[in-house]
Amino acid sequence: MKERPWRSRTPGMMNGRRFYLRAAVLAMAAFLGMEKGHAVPAEDVLLPAPSECRSDASSLVRLPLRLAVYAPEKDAPAVEALLNVLNAQGALTGLSMTRDRDSADVVCSLEGIPAGTGEGYGARLEGVQGGRGVLHLNAAAPQGLFYAWQSMVQVLNANRTGEGFSLPVFSLRDVPRFEWRGIMLDVSRHFFTMAEVKRMIDAMSLFKLNRLHLHLTDGPGWRMEIKKYPLLTSMSAWRVPLANGEWNWQEVKLAIQEHDPEATYGGFYTQEQMKEIIAYASSRQVTVVPEIDLPGHSYAAMHAYGDLICDGVDFPVEGKKGRDAVCMGRPETLRFVKDVVDELKAVFPPGSPIHLGHDEVSAEAWKKCKYCRNRLKELNETDLKALSRDFLRQIADYVRQGGYDAIVWDEGGELEADKHIFVMAWRGNDFAAAAARKGHPVILSPCSHFYFDYYQSSAPTEPKAIGGLIPLQQVYGYELPELTPEEAARVRGLQANIWTEYLYDMGLVEYMMWPRALALSERAWSDCDPRDYRSFRSRASAALKLLEKLAVKYRPMDDEN
Ligand code: ACM
Ligand code: ZN
Repeated sequence: MKERPWRSRTPGMMNGRRFYLRAAVLAMAAFLGMEKGHAVPAEDVLLPAPSECRSDASSLVRLPLRLAVYAPEKDAPAVEALLNVLNAQGALTGLSMTRDRDSADVVCSLEGIPAGTGEGYGARLEGVQGGRGVLHLNAAAPQGLFYAWQSMVQVLNANRTGEGFSLPVFSLRDVPRFEWRGIMLDVSRHFFTMAEVKRMIDAMSLFKLNRLHLHLTDGPGWRMEIKKYPLLTSMSAWRVPLANGEWNWQEVKLAIQEHDPEATYGGFYTQEQMKEIIAYASSRQVTVVPEIDLPGHSYAAMHAYGDLICDGVDFPVEGKKGRDAVCMGRPETLRFVKDVVDELKAVFPPGSPIHLGHDEVSAEAWKKCKYCRNRLKELNETDLKALSRDFLRQIADYVRQGGYDAIVWDEGGELEADKHIFVMAWRGNDFAAAAARKGHPVILSPCSHFYFDYYQSSAPTEPKAIGGLIPLQQVYGYELPELTPEEAARVRGLQANIWTEYLYDMGLVEYMMWPRALALSERAWSDCDPRDYRSFRSRASAALKLLEKLAVKYRPMDDEN
């Protein structure tokens, strides 16, 4: 259990003694030639809140705008690589290495904080002669050092003066609550470019979000190159733009671009491009999680490869009426999925999770299909669920060869295929608890709290969304299901999902994502009390200013939440 974050001044909590302290600080700040109101203690700005943080508001120190960073020789290459990433991220710039420890503004070292997931870190700002400050950042692994810097990005940006930074000394220690702090982006309903995805990774990493789950396939588009099955992208990555711009899945028309000049809308990532996204994300401590949604939501695959369609389905019409599950009886299906997994493994590094979908599967087409019926007989079963159970078992086994993890949506967990499969619970806490009880590792992404495609406000001015209502405070108020300690240990983390039926550009995605992703980040990283919403809101204001600096859009916070 982590210690409670120590925060000195949430709004409305300023007692008399602290008031005098602040007056003294402001007087000193004026003496140092700072703009009034600049000295913000670290604990008043850090989001997610750190495990422990203490500032001394009576001791202000200065740091220059361009920070010289020292690291012991053994750590210097890792630190230099990190500085390159930070300079590119753009929220702090002018970071450079120095070999002179005495004149350094920042001293980084890879030692000290107990390993765990390697994400923990310590940070300390001390005053030296002449009002100069020196920052000490330490972590057992590069991940932790990266997060130490992300915290410093927040603290320094809140304390910028004309010539540099001026802020109270502090000391902090920080370790995450959960290892999985995810965002899912649906790139099937609408395609997002490499630059847009990278920009999302930059913004996520500022707030210690570390899993980007890409929903790469669904009915309206297949979004990753699979060399053995070129039609998936030449045909099913393109469609005719919707006539009136309104989303209507029944009207989506996939087509081969070369043969239909109208099929201009869409796109896909080549394997080289996906490798570039993975490397970009990895340098920002984000793991990319590919999802191939099976056996339902497979219209795009079935459209390109008719061998995946059940006997007796009147395709394409019936494919759009829920009969979009691939055939469980034809040997082509298993071959196809294994081939796709092989190519995913050639692109995604070992240790990556591979998401296999399994949400909202209709068995309608399997009922009358001669291949599926034969397969059911072979399995000596009568319930159609046995088809998907057997299919999932085989694919999950295949995925795991080579050190990959298999993930499914919670319907897949109900199949009782294999308890080593990770379950991503989207239908709510009851489903999450059921999966944890059965022994599955669980990721919580309940549509009651973490569906960021739902409205944020009931105001009529909101951009059109799919429905629902999840204001910011509701995200922040999420509570885990009741679990025994043993079951709770299976909870790997939290994730928000951004389905994009109505989110046709990245500006809209960002608007729906922020500030709600800040609330997710804090609940996933910090073991904070959701009743501390006022403190969160005040720190979220500073966080939104940082997003503005990166030109990321967001929904302004209002009185409603
Ligand atoms: C889902 O929302 N169907 C995972
Ligand atoms: Zn079939």
